Amino acid sequence: MENRARRPVIAGNWKMFKTRLEARAFFEAFRPLVAESKHCDIVVAPPFTALAAAAEAARGSAIGIGGQDMHWEREGAFTGAISARMLIDAGCRYVIIGHSERRQYFGETDETVARKTKAALESGLTPIVCVGETLAEREADRTNEILKRQFEGGLGALTAAEFSRILLAYEPVWAIGTGRTATPEIAAEAHGHIRKLAAALFTLEQASALRILYGGSVRPDNIKGLMAQADIDGALVGGASLDAKSFAAIVNF
Ligand code: PGA
Repeated sequence: MENRARRPVIAGNWKMFKTRLEARAFFEAFRPLVAESKHCDIVVAPPFTALAAAAEAARGSAIGIGGQDMHWEREGAFTGAISARMLIDAGCRYVIIGHSERRQYFGETDETVARKTKAALESGLTPIVCVGETLAEREADRTNEILKRQFEGGLGALTAAEFSRILLAYEPVWAIGTGRTATPEIAAEAHGHIRKLAAALFTLEQASALRILYGGSVRPDNIKGLMAQADIDGALVGGASLDAKSFAAIVNF
C-alpha cells in the first residue's frame, strides 16, 4: 500500500438517507474508527439538509464533507437548486457530479456535468465526477464508447490545471445498489480505459496522476480485492457507507 503512486480516496455517498440527528450519530461512531487512518482521503457526502451538521460533527478530523450535486450558477432563480458557494458555506470541500442516479432520474447530461465541474473547480471544490455504462450498454459491447462520450463530454473543456484537481468515479450502473459488484478485473479494465482517455485528452503525466474511484456495491468484503488492482485508487460507496462500522472497515481496507 505504501508504494502506491496515488493516494487512495474512500468516499461515502449517503444519497437520500439520514437526518441531522442520524448524521451526528454516524460521526460519533465513525470518528474513533478512522482516527488513525492516515493512508487515504476520507469523504462523506450527506444530503443537503445534513451537510452543516455533518461538517460540524467532522470538525477537527481528516474527514472531508461533500455535496451530492450542485448547480453551476452562483445564485439565481433556480428553485430547489444549491450552488457551490452554498456547499462551501455548509462546510463542503467536495461535490459529487454526474452520478448515474442524477443522469437517470434528474436529467443530468454530459453538458450539465461539464458546467457543474467547471463551476465546482472555480469555487475551489474538488469534484468527484461519475461515469459508467448501463447493463444494456455493456451487453451491447458499448462500454468504452459510453465512457469516452461521458469523459470527453464532461471533462473535455477543462484546462490541464483544472483537470489535475478532479477525482473520477467509475460506476457501472448495473452494479449500483444491486449487490452485483464488478469483478476487480472488470473494474480495472474500465479504469485502464479511462486513464487512456485522460492521456489522449491531457498528458500522460496527468493521466497517471488521476485518481479513479470504483463505485457499485462496494462492501467490507470486496474492497481489498478491488484496491489490489493497480488502476483502482479508491471507492465511492453508497449503501455500505451508511453504517459507521462497515464504512470504517472499507476505509481501513
Ligand atoms: P452502492 O452505491 O454502493 O449502494 O452500490 C454506489 C453509488 O451509487 O455511489
